[in-house]
Amino acid sequence: MPPVRIGLLGLGTVGGGVVNVLTRNAEEIARRAGRRIEVVHASARNLDAPRICPLEGILLTTDPMEVVENPEVDVVVELIGGMKPAGDLMRRALELGKPVVTANKALIAHEGMELFELAQRHHTMVAFEAAVAGGIPIIKAIREGLAGNRIEWLAGIINGTGNYILTAMRDEGRAFAEVLAEAQYLGYAEADPTFDVEGIDAAHKLTILAAIAFGMPLKFDEVYTEGISGIETDDVRYAGEFGYQVKHLGIARQRDDGVELRVHPTLIPERRLLANVDGVQNAVLVWGDSVGPTMYYGAGAGAEPTASAVVADLVDVVRTLTADPTHRVPHLAVVPDQISDMTVVPM
Ligand code: HSE
Repeated sequence: MPPVRIGLLGLGTVGGGVVNVLTRNAEEIARRAGRRIEVVHASARNLDAPRICPLEGILLTTDPMEVVENPEVDVVVELIGGMKPAGDLMRRALELGKPVVTANKALIAHEGMELFELAQRHHTMVAFEAAVAGGIPIIKAIREGLAGNRIEWLAGIINGTGNYILTAMRDEGRAFAEVLAEAQYLGYAEADPTFDVEGIDAAHKLTILAAIAFGMPLKFDEVYTEGISGIETDDVRYAGEFGYQVKHLGIARQRDDGVELRVHPTLIPERRLLANVDGVQNAVLVWGDSVGPTMYYGAGAGAEPTASAVVADLVDVVRTLTADPTHRVPHLAVVPDQISDMTVVPM
């Protein structure tokens, strides 16, 4: 079988990580996918910027639409982030029947339903494991591993930058702004870091998790959202003196009268697992009615952890590509006609 040819939009932290992982683990990945996976065409805003990955054999351009429309590209990986132009690029790829793998939580949280419908219409798919909790395969865990459960609730630390900041404030007594600058330097933060510190990024991710867990529409606008920008070093220190950790959580819970969706700082007793998740790590606790509590832990941001999730989706997509196109419909996405509306309880 010939290799599956990837068009990569974005060669920054995560894009570079994807090229590195695909190159280094090419044999394992080919064994699991049944075919080799090769990046053939990639776009970047500035072709002269320093890169963390080798670019030999990859055709480069500054025009991402050229990559999407290249007939030699079988699958598009969107790692530009943000709403524009990522949304238009993704729509074009889907109209061309090309599967899209993305880490773009903002776009999925806001326009996911439209994208999934477009994918379904064109017998293709959108895969977005990397959009939530970096390297933790939380979407696959909920959608596949817990498929036999009614999910009662989930709660997680789903923003690595925020957790990195809170941990450094606690352990090193460092000021908020200084640690945020470090998280930006390390490539953890969003292009606009207010998304991290004001809880918007976590709300995007919670919106997606709730849709997967409860089979409900994406309701980003109804998530109660509070960030960590008002937290000071003293708050974190005093919490510790009383046996608590300050953690920024996303919480989704099914209730009789609807669903709670909320993102805010919480005090967690030190003996709890979530209280011990530090640095850029994320963790998500998911409670299913048959299995009880389950917990997923790992790096929530960074080049290779996020690339790990992107490549896992690529392997899934490549396996699915070998199926009859009419049967391809999105085991990787939310199935639009199986969504039931739910009231979000105001907080
Ligand atoms: N800025 C995000 C975070 C990146 O810190 O979690 C991963 O989604």
